Amino acid sequence: MSKSHAVLDILPEHVDGCRDFMIFGHFLEHFHRQIYGGVYNPGSHLSDENGFRRDVIEALRRIKTPVIRWPGGCFVSAYPWKKGVGRRVPYYDKAWRVEEPNTFGTAEFVAFCREVGAEPFICTNAGTGSPEDMSDWVEYCNLEIGEWAARRRADGHGEPFDVLYWSIGNENYGAWEMGAKTADEWARLVLESAKMMKRVDHRIELAIASTPNLDWNTTVLREAGDMLDWVSIHGYWSGASDEGVFEKGYDNIIARAFEPEERIVNVKYILGALGYLDKLRIAFDEWNLRGWCHPNFMSFGAADHALMDANDINSNYNLADAVFTACFLNSCLRHCDVVGMANFSPVVNTVGAIFTHEDGIVTRPTYHIFDLYTNHTYEEIVHSALASPSFDVLADGGSCKSVQQLDAVVTRDPTTGNMGITLVNLHGENTIQCRIRGLGRRDLSGATIRTVNGASVDAFNDVDQPEAVSIEERTLVIDSFGDFTIECPAHSVSVLNLV
Ligand code: AHR
Repeated sequence: MSKSHAVLDILPEHVDGCRDFMIFGHFLEHFHRQIYGGVYNPGSHLSDENGFRRDVIEALRRIKTPVIRWPGGCFVSAYPWKKGVGRRVPYYDKAWRVEEPNTFGTAEFVAFCREVGAEPFICTNAGTGSPEDMSDWVEYCNLEIGEWAARRRADGHGEPFDVLYWSIGNENYGAWEMGAKTADEWARLVLESAKMMKRVDHRIELAIASTPNLDWNTTVLREAGDMLDWVSIHGYWSGASDEGVFEKGYDNIIARAFEPEERIVNVKYILGALGYLDKLRIAFDEWNLRGWCHPNFMSFGAADHALMDANDINSNYNLADAVFTACFLNSCLRHCDVVGMANFSPVVNTVGAIFTHEDGIVTRPTYHIFDLYTNHTYEEIVHSALASPSFDVLADGGSCKSVQQLDAVVTRDPTTGNMGITLVNLHGENTIQCRIRGLGRRDLSGATIRTVNGASVDAFNDVDQPEAVSIEERTLVIDSFGDFTIECPAHSVSVLNLV
């Protein structure tokens, strides 16, 4: 084990921007155990009177979950939302090829969000659905008048749900999506849907399914850009094979830790080139290091539930996930001028941050990163310059990649001046010393450092070892008033708080 050195120069007078708290959002899809047996489990001794798991709600409140996107995902592109309100009948879900119990629909989703304290963000069916279906959904949720508002009242919900965040479609550019579209088809559908949805409720903010592709965005935004507020992009960087196995080890993952940032910059440049930088923001509304396992998705073989179960195993999700997640969030903070929302995918189970079982939950390493960032970083992004050494890792196919060892973002509470400095050491074995300069004669006596780490890069949490990876908190004794040095252990994520 050896030590390397980095320098973080902070310029406290210069603020790069303010983050939108919605970058700490989550995503919930009708898939495997996310809803049924996940957040929604009527009959469980752990559920409340609405059937929602109390332990899940408490965990999501703890990480101040600001927004939840629902109901898909690929699921939504044939989702008949009108069958998911009022009287319910189970139906066949053509995305995941299972029977959808259909007991969790719009009203249940909104109630769940309200219990969590999160904004509901509804993704519409732009695969088999029409502009009319989409705008009827807005009517059902937000209006006081008209047929669909009357339906909502008849279903027992007198007050409008007031859903302010909506997305037109999910990955409609992809061949895997039901009702996939060409860019031209997509542009017309988006234009007409946006027009009708905003005529129903002009307050809503609208996102559209997009991708970091110049042609797609040029075609769609030229036609409909003026009606929109967000472009949605997605990313998963370590796919599960059809056997449910993640093929990438720690080095492979670390080699990709800054790829989300490349994707953000790519879309930012596209928005800039098209003249939309000040109007549209990026909603990275599905993201996770790990992709989901859904065998035979692109073929017509049977859906294999045993393999989906294997994808739910806690040992799959370790410190590598935590380090990658911190780098992703740092990228959003750095690009707070353009990234306004991100939704970790999904809320529970599959590859999510929380695992539910009959008698409780397990918080996976990624959960603790959300805990660190939502509870201990602040709104302002203070300008800083980081000089970090790099190290070589062997990435996919044996190629050598140079990776920056330390990543850092300086945040500050504009009211109190309290600071939260994120420090991510990506190295699997070596500690790094970070010299922090530029805070002048600030009193450092109340410094606290909170670190997410574990015994090795493979450390994970499970029912019988719930805290193998958790947040360790230490009060620091910094007796100088000038520059000081912090040691960041290998494969760790820390937030240094200065009050
Ligand atoms: O693998 C899960 C799927 O990933 C989501 O349904 C879809 O939106 C994304 O491609």
